[in-house]
Amino acid sequence: MAETTTAKIFDYPRNAWYVAAWDHEVTRTPLARTIAGRPLALFRTEDGAPVALADACWHRLAPLSMGKVIGDELQCPYHGIRYDRTGRCTAMPAQETINPSAMVPSFPIVDRYRYVWVWVGDAALADPSTIPDMHQMTSPEWTGDGELIHAECNYQLVVDNLMDLTHEEFVHTSSIGQDALSESEFVTSHTDTTVTVERWMIDIEAPPFWLKNMRDKFPGFSGRVDRWQIIHFEAPSTICLDVGVAATGTGAPEGDRSAGVNGYVMNTITPETDRTSHYFWSFQRNYRLDSQFITTQLRNGVHGVFSEDEMMLQAQQAAIDANPDYEFYSLNIDAGGMWVRRLLERMLEAEGRMAVPAAVGS
Ligand code: FES
Ligand SMILES: [Fe+2]
Repeated sequence: MAETTTAKIFDYPRNAWYVAAWDHEVTRTPLARTIAGRPLALFRTEDGAPVALADACWHRLAPLSMGKVIGDELQCPYHGIRYDRTGRCTAMPAQETINPSAMVPSFPIVDRYRYVWVWVGDAALADPSTIPDMHQMTSPEWTGDGELIHAECNYQLVVDNLMDLTHEEFVHTSSIGQDALSESEFVTSHTDTTVTVERWMIDIEAPPFWLKNMRDKFPGFSGRVDRWQIIHFEAPSTICLDVGVAATGTGAPEGDRSAGVNGYVMNTITPETDRTSHYFWSFQRNYRLDSQFITTQLRNGVHGVFSEDEMMLQAQQAAIDANPDYEFYSLNIDAGGMWVRRLLERMLEAEGRMAVPAAVGS
């Protein structure tokens, strides 16, 4: 691929489902969170339904997230106006009539895959059937757990990080990095809403993280492995990594993974501002489902790996901001990430917003 320049601070679509929180974070105590530039107050009604209201009172803009949930209503912390789940005012202090214009915006919100998804764009377009597929989060065939990282960078930098995993060789040397990553070929494909990058490493040493997982499933395992990384991107910013290793020569590339271990790293990145993101991840596995010990060990292990990414991404964003006149260039390894940008540009164009020009030949 020829060298190309591309946008560094990439705008985010608004007509999209974004994860606002883990399901357990949204409770009867309001939660303040900014999603795609929109400050929200999130809470649950008495029957457990999630609610997202704009986090500014109609009266004097006090943050509703500092208020109190009473029944199914949110009470402003300043002068006590109450709002129902649609954002309509139901009670005003010291007056009997309610000003009919008293409303705050409410936003479509759905519980799915252990996450709470919100739509801050045009509500008429919010169709829950378009929520990205993350079924390994709740399928009985998988188990696992994860975390939320507050990433100090534009969401696109996190997406780039996950669309090209050759960085493991340099950033994650003690766990999953190995030379075979950048030495192996990969295949990129796409549809209108998805991008897939598939890479196989045949007959290699298992790196420490995967050797440990093999021994969790096959005690005493030793020998060489076939390793796979299949990156599934779904617009605008969900990336599920199908990753694993199997004893070499047992047919994993042809589809028989029974002599191996398989994980799905479920990542979804929500823009907060131009330069900050909510990065939700979970490591799901389909073996030893009963072992909370392994679940906790894996979560802690991946936490360590992703802390290495977090430091790199924060440093990268700082360097971008400190060098505004410098460009980005792209290499062969960025093929998946470049497709992602094309899909996102189309989404931005469909919203009538100019995408920052990308892929300008140099
Ligand atoms: S600012 Fe909310 S009631 Fe006054
Ligand atoms: Fe990484």
